[in-house]
Amino acid sequence: MKLLVVGSGGREHAIILKLSESKRVSKIYCAPGNAGIAKFAECFDVKATNIEGMVELAKKLEVDMVVVAPDDPLVLGMVNSMNDEGIKTFGPDFAAAAIEGSKVFSKNLMKKYNIPTADYKAFSDPEDAILYLKEKCNYPTVVKADGLALGKGVVIAQNAEEAIDAVEAIMFDKIFGNSGNQIVIEEFLTGPEVSVLSFCDGKTVVPMISSMDHKRALDNDEGLNTGGMGTIAPNPFYTDEIAKLCMETIFIPTVKAMQAENREFKGCLYFGLMLTENGPKVIEYNCRFGDPETQVVLPLLETDIVDIFEAIWEDKLDKIDIKWKNGAAACVIMASGGYPKKYETGIEITGLDKSGQVEGGFVYHAGTKNEGGKIVTAGGRVLGVTCTGENLKEALDKSYALISRIKFDKAHYRTDIGKKVL
Ligand code: AMP
Ligand code: GLY
Repeated sequence: MKLLVVGSGGREHAIILKLSESKRVSKIYCAPGNAGIAKFAECFDVKATNIEGMVELAKKLEVDMVVVAPDDPLVLGMVNSMNDEGIKTFGPDFAAAAIEGSKVFSKNLMKKYNIPTADYKAFSDPEDAILYLKEKCNYPTVVKADGLALGKGVVIAQNAEEAIDAVEAIMFDKIFGNSGNQIVIEEFLTGPEVSVLSFCDGKTVVPMISSMDHKRALDNDEGLNTGGMGTIAPNPFYTDEIAKLCMETIFIPTVKAMQAENREFKGCLYFGLMLTENGPKVIEYNCRFGDPETQVVLPLLETDIVDIFEAIWEDKLDKIDIKWKNGAAACVIMASGGYPKKYETGIEITGLDKSGQVEGGFVYHAGTKNEGGKIVTAGGRVLGVTCTGENLKEALDKSYALISRIKFDKAHYRTDIGKKVL
């Protein structure tokens, strides 16, 4: 089979590595890709959000399947455009991708179908939101932009002043554009967070191995929220008992709710959960593989991923037995100094071999570029240094040993990934 993967980050690198392990795959293409991906897939300079361009590319390359990995093309409906051309595609269509594309939609869905989540109110008028924040709200509270916001659309406000600042930035200043036409203000919850990615064919949902993200930029969960600074899998907080409860109260009800709304979800449905003292609750849904969760989950997948993608396409996910490896995986992100705020790019990375790797683990490239044969930085998150091991400690020790061999000016990484559960 020939496959085209849409996207350019560490997640896409992880998907491509997994595809490359499949005996059924003869050729992998990627658009736009990056310097690390280019060693495994032929890359084309088409933007992930260029729907027409991507459909043209898929047709020209005569691929057997397209895998749409990032949120924006999914929310824009790239899968519908591929399907209109008869191209087999992995990922939810426009209607189903709204589960991530609109927080107002997903919160209303959870309320309607009794899926446990934080209490909330949705607002389309900023004045109403501000009045609510001044007069009725308990603090801390959480302000969320309705639409996609590069993982930065969530503000945890300690008081009314901070919350009102967030509303003004999102709804008046439109720092996230139209994603700020509506907002959700929700109850602040506490408890360990768990990411559960799942395969889903619209009817059957099969959770993957659980993982834990580290969203803050600095050690001890300090600093700004980022796209994710490191992950471990499995997540030790996610016991078999909790998994069973989540299946019954969250996963199956969500898939059924989407079916009932005529928005059958086919692809990877990501459940961002918080294990509160009142039970597991949904913090967010994503309509795609998580990044950097995928970098620790897929290395532990034993079943051929192409078989799974095909089963989803054919609505036969219930017919396939998905197997996982024993052990654990850890991914530590090396980011550009300054990320998630301003950072420089074009800085040379040393310590990688010709294929952009270091022996002993796997280096997923996120923001890298090949400049005249040199691998240079090209984004906020640059590399995801990943190792598997018999247990979490072994995986983490190996990842940190590898990271010490990779260098670039102003590189930043957290030194405490997985530490709180060791
Ligand atoms: P999101 O972009 O929705 O994943 O939110 C980013 C992060 O904000 C989450 O991973 C949580 O750590 C935090 N967060 C979001 N919603 C809540 C909430 N209702 N209560 C407490 N923390 C939250
Ligand atoms: N790592 C969080 C996400 O992919 O949304």
